[in-house]
Amino acid sequence: MSPSVLVTGAAGQIGTELVRVLRKKYGTEGVTATDKVVRPGSGPGTIVPLDVTDRASVERAFREHAIDTVYHLAAVLSALGEENPDLAWDVNMKGLKNVLDSSAATGVRRLFWPSSIGVFGPDAPKMLAPQDAPLNPTTMYGVTKVAGELLCRYYSLKHDLDVRSLRYPGLISSEAKPGGGTTDYAVEIFYSALKSRAYTCFLRQDTALPMMYMPDALRATVQLMEADRSSVKLHGGYNLSAMSFTPAELSSEIQKRIPGFSVAYAPDQRQKIADSWPMSIDDSAARRDWGWKPEYDLPSMAADMLARLGSRLQTQKDV
Ligand code: NAD
Ligand code: SER
Repeated sequence: MSPSVLVTGAAGQIGTELVRVLRKKYGTEGVTATDKVVRPGSGPGTIVPLDVTDRASVERAFREHAIDTVYHLAAVLSALGEENPDLAWDVNMKGLKNVLDSSAATGVRRLFWPSSIGVFGPDAPKMLAPQDAPLNPTTMYGVTKVAGELLCRYYSLKHDLDVRSLRYPGLISSEAKPGGGTTDYAVEIFYSALKSRAYTCFLRQDTALPMMYMPDALRATVQLMEADRSSVKLHGGYNLSAMSFTPAELSSEIQKRIPGFSVAYAPDQRQKIADSWPMSIDDSAARRDWGWKPEYDLPSMAADMLARLGSRLQTQKDV
């Protein structure tokens, strides 16, 4: 029997594409997409308003749609979270606790909640940060992700809730724009390359960070959620990896395809956040436990992004 799914934060960078994937698998009726902000004409299709900081509304939505599987994506990301730490705490922690409590109260069976490379701080190894590296983030976003991982583990022990989680790297996608993260430059750069042939990057040219193309992130999410329960050993957050590159390396990959594209560098407050994160992470636990393997590397991601975004920009003037 198909699960009855609810997605929070469905109008965001991941939700826009994940809802489409889930609706293809389980049918439009089987996937209730929700978000606090519902903008007409954007997102994955029909979206129901739901503020995750409102416990009663979350529980009501779970009961009303007889939900057994939740993808909880609503959050405030790293850069926005440093500008507004109270908002980050409220949405990321209160929102997660409301979703966990409502899940336990209504009999939700399985919950997906994304963690992030933001769990790591300056004391984690810079190269191939291991699954069990120390988690001492220096951003409010990272604090909420570490606390969130602990909370997810607690609920999976205490309430037998099947919580599954991935520490996504920075995600690059051609559909919805990113919503306030430190890795957003790796999406913005493609829009600028195609629209104006020039980009000013807010990170230094030598800032290496772990990154992933959205099709791989979507595949990992579905693969983890469909994995046999006995193979999912971690309920906090699996390290997930695909590629690692600097702004200079990404620029030169784009320049191979758009000669004349120029990039300048003007690091801002987001540089400090990037400097606190690892350059690459080790995802051998995900590979071992449920068979994770990425498909896209830097050249194949850049070629596909330019092709997809290029055709969207040609057909949709307001992108
Ligand atoms: P996003 O910012 O694009 O989307 C988040 C969505 O949450 C937005 O549509 C926003 O309207 C919604 N939202 C905010 N406050 C809300 C509230 N109170 N109630 C309901 N909805 C609310 O984020 P995303 O990139 O789609 O990220 C989704 C999840 O994945 C987050 O937990 C994020 O930390 C995690 N993640 C993302 C990345 C990435 O690179 N995109 C990397 C690592 C982890
Ligand atoms: N892409 C995310 C951010 O920069 C990582 O969690 O906030």
